Amino acid sequence: MSLERAKPPLPDEDKRWKLVNATMRRNGYADHALIETLHSVQDAFGFLDETSLHFVAASLDLPLSKVYGVATFYHLFTLKPKGRHSCVVCTGTACYIKGANALVEGLRERYAINPGETTEDGHLSVLTARCVGACGLAPAVVIDGEVLGRLDTPDLIERLDTLPDPEPTPASHRPPTTSH
Ligand code: FES
Repeated sequence: MSLERAKPPLPDEDKRWKLVNATMRRNGYADHALIETLHSVQDAFGFLDETSLHFVAASLDLPLSKVYGVATFYHLFTLKPKGRHSCVVCTGTACYIKGANALVEGLRERYAINPGETTEDGHLSVLTARCVGACGLAPAVVIDGEVLGRLDTPDLIERLDTLPDPEPTPASHRPPTTSH
């Protein structure tokens, strides 16, 4: 049949969309691929946001309400984190071998949060993903959508500490600082 619908373009140049697209293509863009596709979004990005849900709905030709319904029904899916900034640490095999766990541990010590959580002051959400498509840069992290590679824990923390916050943070809500 020649009634094939044109697929929507990838939302942006982030190559993680190619991983998501590959999952849908492998399933012939059939609607039964929805859960597997949402998994692949989460594996690549660490969470599901509005852009990804719209993209998946359009690609699989499903009502947005259905995609939101599935994304919010299963608690194994994480919706876009609440923090003003997000840091996704890739814990896939290549990154694991290159020390991703030390990064996660360093973030836990510095901000007192586990992956999937947001600091009390709303500055930062930390997440993990299974492969962000940048294995050559292992260990890879994605800070506010920017893929960065080969950072060690002090470098990562310095970057995160200096991310601009739009609103002044009350002193009482700042993350604990290390004393000298
Ligand atoms: S395993 Fe980390 S980018 Fe592929």
